[in-house]
Amino acid sequence: MKTHTKRKMILDCDPGHDDAIAILLAAGHEGIDLIGITTVAGNAELEKTTLNALKVCEIAGIDVPVLKGNSQPLIRKRETAADIHGDSGMDGPVLPAPVKQAGEEHAVDFIIRTLMESDGDITLVPVGPLTNIAMAMRREPSILSKIQEIVLMGGGTFGNWTPAAEFNIYVDADAAKVVFESGVPITMMGLDLTHQALADHDVSRRIGGIGNQPANFVSELLTYFRKTYLEFFGFEHPPVHDVCSVAYCIDPTVVETKKLRVDIETKGELTYGMTLVDVNGVTGKEPNVNFAMKLDHAKFWNMLIDTLERY
Ligand code: RIB
Ligand code: CA
Repeated sequence: MKTHTKRKMILDCDPGHDDAIAILLAAGHEGIDLIGITTVAGNAELEKTTLNALKVCEIAGIDVPVLKGNSQPLIRKRETAADIHGDSGMDGPVLPAPVKQAGEEHAVDFIIRTLMESDGDITLVPVGPLTNIAMAMRREPSILSKIQEIVLMGGGTFGNWTPAAEFNIYVDADAAKVVFESGVPITMMGLDLTHQALADHDVSRRIGGIGNQPANFVSELLTYFRKTYLEFFGFEHPPVHDVCSVAYCIDPTVVETKKLRVDIETKGELTYGMTLVDVNGVTGKEPNVNFAMKLDHAKFWNMLIDTLERY
């Protein structure tokens, strides 16, 4: 009988409504061995994103180490997204203070140690600003050959924080430049893809009908996220950006991708944080990214809903 080997993953995140759902998919799917959850400042300050990650683990009974990372971008001043995710970073659901505590080890040290001890079979899935990943690469360059793949949520051919830049990249474009120029295999879930992952009313109804605590939690997350995405972006349904990265790790056929060159703008007055996606290959530069273009909606939502049902 064909045994499916689990894909080893470190999920680096800034919960965050969509980060929280990504955690549930990664921890709940039998195809993933979630080695650790590392947190970074992004949607909210580090203390809040870490607390939110602990709350998600608690409500779903997830026994995975949670390690705190960087509270500031490498160079720029921190920016958060309270308008979208609320002051707590995960407004909407009311959850008890978690018993679970974050580990003592710094996230960057955890990432380095885990990779160095591995057989090179770990996928890094950053779905917030890339500060922790860049710091790990700079602190210990020998991890570069130990990273199987980086499957990140960020960037795109357009922006959502500025007209040019997506939030995760914009918050720490200097870190993004380090990662995109590292030579490590990168699969990029940019806004071109994640804006296809819209939790419409049918999806919300299906999740609402599951009836267990993690699924009810997701329903509450989507209720809040729907409100802010309508208010600030005029979206009828909220995009669950970060879930796309985890779904790809489970089944790469959930998206169609294309090898493209992507460079990061770190100097532009108006374009800081832009991912310059060479869609037509006009730079002649070697492609460095597996760029996700098209989402298989049925496969994506069935994967998430089936996983939530099994909690
Ligand atoms: O631009 C979308 C990204 O910013 C997602 O990762 C969301 O969680 C926020 O961090
Ligand atoms: Ca995120």
